[in-house]
Formats: sequence, C-alpha cells, structure tokens
Amino acid sequence: MNTKELNSNELPQHVAIIMDGNGRWAQKQGKLRIRGHEAGAEAVRKTVESAAKLGIKHLTLYAFSTENWRRPKTEVTTLMGLLVRSLRKELERMTENNIRLGAIGSLEQLPKKVQLELNEVILKTQDNTGTHLTLALSYGAREEIKQAVIEISQKVKNNIIPVESIDETIINKHLYTQNLPDVDLLIRTSGEVRISNFLLWQIAYAELYFTDELWPDFNEQSLHKAILSYQKRERRFGKTSEQLT
Ligand code: FPP
Repeated sequence: MNTKELNSNELPQHVAIIMDGNGRWAQKQGKLRIRGHEAGAEAVRKTVESAAKLGIKHLTLYAFSTENWRRPKTEVTTLMGLLVRSLRKELERMTENNIRLGAIGSLEQLPKKVQLELNEVILKTQDNTGTHLTLALSYGAREEIKQAVIEISQKVKNNIIPVESIDETIINKHLYTQNLPDVDLLIRTSGEVRISNFLLWQIAYAELYFTDELWPDFNEQSLHKAILSYQKRERRFGKTSEQLT
C-alpha cells in the first residue's frame, strides 16, 4: 500500500487501538508470552512513529486494562517491567518525533516505579506539539464513568452545579479523556470483535476496524490500511446521506 492513497485532509483526528494477540503470537512461535509482549512493545514504537509521520493528532493505546490485573502475577510483573524499560528507552525518540505522552486510567494502582517513569516522560514531553500519545493503563471505561458520576454527584450535592446543567460537555469534563476529542477510528487486532471496556463513552460515533493480524505483526502498512478503510466510509452522525452533500 502506498501512503499516496491516503487523503491527508481527511485523517482521523483521534485513533484508538486495542492491541490484542501478543500471547497468541508468542504461542504460534513456541515462545513465552513475555516474548509476545516484547514484540508488542516494538509494534507500539513503530505504530506511534507511523502515526506521527502521517500527522495523526491523537493516538490512544489500550496497554493494560483493569481486568488485566487478574492475569498471573508473573505476567503482570513482567509487563510492568517492560513498560518501565520501554518508557526509559523511548523518551529520546519521542522527543525527536515531537510526541507528547499522556496516560489515562486508575494510574494510582500502578506500581510506584511505573508511576514515576510515566510522570517523568509526561513532564519531559509536555511541550511537544506533534502526536499526542495516550497510554490507557489500568484503564476501564465503566470505572471511568463511575468516577465521573461520583464527582458530578458531589458537585450537585454541594451546590457547585445545578442538576439541570448536566450535559454531555459536563460529563466529558469529568472523564479521564477530558482533554481529548472523541475517537474517530477504533482499531482492534487479533480477530476478536469486541470492545472490552475501552473508551465506551468516547467511541459513540467512532468507525470500528477489526483485523485478524496479531498485534506484534501490526505495522505502518496495517495502520494505513485501517485509515484507508476509515476514509472510504460515510460518517453520517445520525443524518441521511443527502443531508451531508
Ligand atoms: C494483549 O495481548 C496485550 C496486552 C494485554 C498488553 C499490551 C502490551 C504491549 C503491547 C506491550 C507493552 C506496551 C507498551 C505501551 C510499551 P494478549 O496478551 O491479550 O494476547 P492474547 O489474547 O493472544 O493472549
């Protein structure tokens, strides 16, 4: 596939990816699951750089869900270690590529080492103006919505806002993603066709793209293919085709 086929005026502003299939990729090759995650981290690096090259404004990656804490302790520990190593290793490249890092999720549940590394990279890349990369870590959409409901209810109870003022803008402001636009394109790899508690509110009008490719095999060409599919669709946001023309 050729980048020229992509219309640079109609890029999705916000691409979100459910990176799935690291374990199966490793299993297929008779390797340990952690080798799949390591190859997955390499695919993250390549995908972020491809997105930056294309000029994608926001890229959000589902790196660890609230449900992933249920995995065997050794896998969780190695994943956290890989995260720290990747963040350390990638800081320089992120700066070179003008990438700004952010994170969403119940971040206080992450090991201290991960929190410190994450905060450092977020701080050091905060003035970069290129692709805004958000890692969803210890993330669950229902938890995010629950937190928003609690915060809004407390404001109503304390007479900070009247109940009648609650609208989509107020709800958006209480989500982890308060500084992000809605998702335009959601990609999931590995052939699974589900959302798995990812950005439930923010994908209301997203185009969904599922590919059988396992996450470690995902590359620049795969991203282009997904965006091309997005560009061929008509986004009506509830209107009719005629109203759009
Ligand atoms: C899904 O594959 C992947 C994960 C749960 C973790 C994602 C982590 C990475 C891509 C690597 C490190 C991340 C960063 C940001 C550097 P799976 O284990 O569920 O695969 P399976 O369904 O085949 O078992």
